[in-house]
Amino acid sequence: MDFSFTEEQLMLQDVARRIAQEKIAPSAEHHDRTGEFPLENIRLLGENGLMGIEVPEAYGGAGMDPIAYVLAMVEVAAGDAAHSTIMSVNNSLFCNGILTHGSEAQKQKYVRAIAEGEAIGAFALTEPQSGSDATAMRCRAVKQADGTYVINGKKSWITSGPVAKYIVLFAMTDPEQGARGITAFMIDTDKAGFHRGKTEPKLGIRASATCEIEFQEYVADADDVLGKEGEGFKIAMGVLDAGRIGIASQAIGIARAAYEATIAYVKDRKAFGAAIGTFQMTQAKIADMKCKLDAALLLTLRAAWVKGQGKRFSNEAAIAKLTASEAAMWITHQAVQIHGGMGYSKEMPLERYFRDAKITEIYEGTSEIQRLVIARNETGLR
Ligand code: CAA
Repeated sequence: MDFSFTEEQLMLQDVARRIAQEKIAPSAEHHDRTGEFPLENIRLLGENGLMGIEVPEAYGGAGMDPIAYVLAMVEVAAGDAAHSTIMSVNNSLFCNGILTHGSEAQKQKYVRAIAEGEAIGAFALTEPQSGSDATAMRCRAVKQADGTYVINGKKSWITSGPVAKYIVLFAMTDPEQGARGITAFMIDTDKAGFHRGKTEPKLGIRASATCEIEFQEYVADADDVLGKEGEGFKIAMGVLDAGRIGIASQAIGIARAAYEATIAYVKDRKAFGAAIGTFQMTQAKIADMKCKLDAALLLTLRAAWVKGQGKRFSNEAAIAKLTASEAAMWITHQAVQIHGGMGYSKEMPLERYFRDAKITEIYEGTSEIQRLVIARNETGLR
């Protein structure tokens, strides 16, 4: 087993780290406070290949592998989690799904614009009354005699919804068929029948815009179907497997930023005549933080490696996301605690890391759903 990275992977990591530290981290507090969408930084990430890391160069991407994606995501998330949310959706949920299931025309039309940072993509599965139970969706796409589909319904919690140009939408085409009656569509948000609803006021990742969207008599052409009719649920689940590697990487980046701030603080902060890092209670926390961080990273790299081998990686991705998101929550919690009053203050980024970490246990499949996926894979029972 070889734990070293290739020169290309390290180069991409270096580009991501430089942008994250020079451009993203310095504006993170502003973006968190104002909720302003960081369009300029997203464009910069796109210009440097970071919005389509696994997208072949022929479609405007960096043509790299899933390991490179993990390394770059960790760096951007360490700079600011909200930026990495936008990056993750563009890379994993948008580009990945079209590359895997799209026609040549769809790849040319949709992937290039997003991979190059010219436009923003989104993924619309969740509805106001269905999150974890995705097959309970009500959004309907009704096929017409001329082969077009008329779409009506609402989707909620759409990351980048307020700014997205294109969306991968999942709608019910045959409700009798349940999971097998769902179809994926490519949506152009400039077309008639597409509407944006309320923006979500969120606890964390505040600069990643999130809103409801609604379809009223939106007409999709037959060419807008992604994959085949009825394949939508499997497409969504496969795409979410990849997305979970992205969210695990995001959790690691947030946790690493909190961990590094803590290491600096415990060496500097004195109490009872000594640096607090010399106290055994602090040392135990530092050791546990480091173990959880490394375990999360290694499990995430394993999931990325299996993906890169072209094998099914649902279980590895769920294990990585569950471990990394719970590690991030625990590590940011301990980081706030070790910083004491300064951890609770907006003068330092610790409270932001703590708020940002929470979403990684919720979106792209809650921790409960990851446990369900893992247990089903391990036992073969349903
Ligand atoms: N890859 C490919 N196919 C898969 C799959 C996968 N990972 N998982 C399931 N399938 C297939 C099954 O094999 C099955 O196929 P057949 O009909 O041929 O047998 C079909 O899909 C249905 O599978 P299940 O019976 O297992 O489906 P289920 O209703 O029991 O649901 C679930 C399974 C794991 C609970 C799933 O619904 C799930 O993952 N829910 C969570 C949804 C989620 O992650 N939402 C996140 C919202 S998106 C988001 O957060 C994005 C954002 O903006 C950041």
